[in-house]
Amino acid sequence: MQLLPDHALLMAPMVDLSHGAYRNLVRSFSGCDLFYSEMLNARIVPTEKPQTSLYLRWKRTDDLIFQLLGNDPERMHLSALKLDGYAPFGIDINMGCWLKKVTTHGWGVKLMEDLNLASRVVTSVRSATQRPLSVKMRIGYSLDREVLLDFASMLEDAGVDFIVLHARTAQDGLSRRARWEYIAFLKERLRIPVIGNGDIRSADDACRMFRITGCDGVMVGRQALIQPWIFRDIKLKLAGMDTKESPALNAVILSLLCNLEESFPEDVACKRFKTALFWLAQNHQFGHHLTKLAGRCHTVEGLKGCIMEFFAVSQS
Ligand SMILES: Cc1cc2nc3c(=O)[nH]c(=O)nc-3n(C[C@H](O)[C@H](O)[C@H](O)COP(=O)(O)O)c2cc1C
Repeated sequence: MQLLPDHALLMAPMVDLSHGAYRNLVRSFSGCDLFYSEMLNARIVPTEKPQTSLYLRWKRTDDLIFQLLGNDPERMHLSALKLDGYAPFGIDINMGCWLKKVTTHGWGVKLMEDLNLASRVVTSVRSATQRPLSVKMRIGYSLDREVLLDFASMLEDAGVDFIVLHARTAQDGLSRRARWEYIAFLKERLRIPVIGNGDIRSADDACRMFRITGCDGVMVGRQALIQPWIFRDIKLKLAGMDTKESPALNAVILSLLCNLEESFPEDVACKRFKTALFWLAQNHQFGHHLTKLAGRCHTVEGLKGCIMEFFAVSQS
């Protein structure tokens, strides 16, 4: 059976943003094929209680891949076993996070510097689940294509089912342009599917990444936060049709707030809403003003009033 649909569309893992409420919002615009959870720390997952956890909280898991962060094979195995029990689509290992607070523990992209340990981590997770296993990685610490190919080939041999390549080096962070040529390079050489990630800002960009790199799927991060309807537009473009008009922004923002209110305690809902608003507000000329106003609200009712008033004034 085919692992991924043709031209697979994936939403990227993003801390504090890859939660059920955002997924529902994306689904309301025809959705994508697969979502990733935010990175889940393998030091915490084994003892985390779903009844109280803010992270192990979801209504639907069949289109969800849980992303694990860690480098201890034993803990990664236990975490994968536990997450497998929630019947997700699959499990992912984070080998791409470049933040110092992560790499200092040897997690994330740091694993790309230790082929041996990375291989043991993959083997330990592989033995915990029969579900699809992906690795989300970067180009690594150097631009040497052979080093990248050695690492990716190790993943393939260790039983990884597909790779997501965020086409930047560890040192690039999120700043310079993504190096899509590395996606094409891996796609040409690996047997397993390769998903491209980095700098898709429009439906046209997604089509261009498919065309230029030959990748099996694309993963969208920041632009899917700004335009949760981007996957609908990509599907239309891939089918040779025109994209639709953007939906009314006030309705999109209020819908996310209602989704958050249903999913989290009020203080968490408000906090996560403000994090998300930073992105959604980028669709509005005076979005920075909206985020400033919302920053002063501490209840969901207060936020609703603030949003309605902002749009009433800005549309008058
Ligand atoms: C706020 C934020 C949080 C992120 N959190 C994660 C994460 O938990 N795990 C991960 O593998 N990547 C994480 N990333 C990286 C994204 O998944 C993605 O690789 C990156 O943003 C490049 O894709 P884009 O250009 O489409 O945004 C994060 C990025 C952002 C902006």
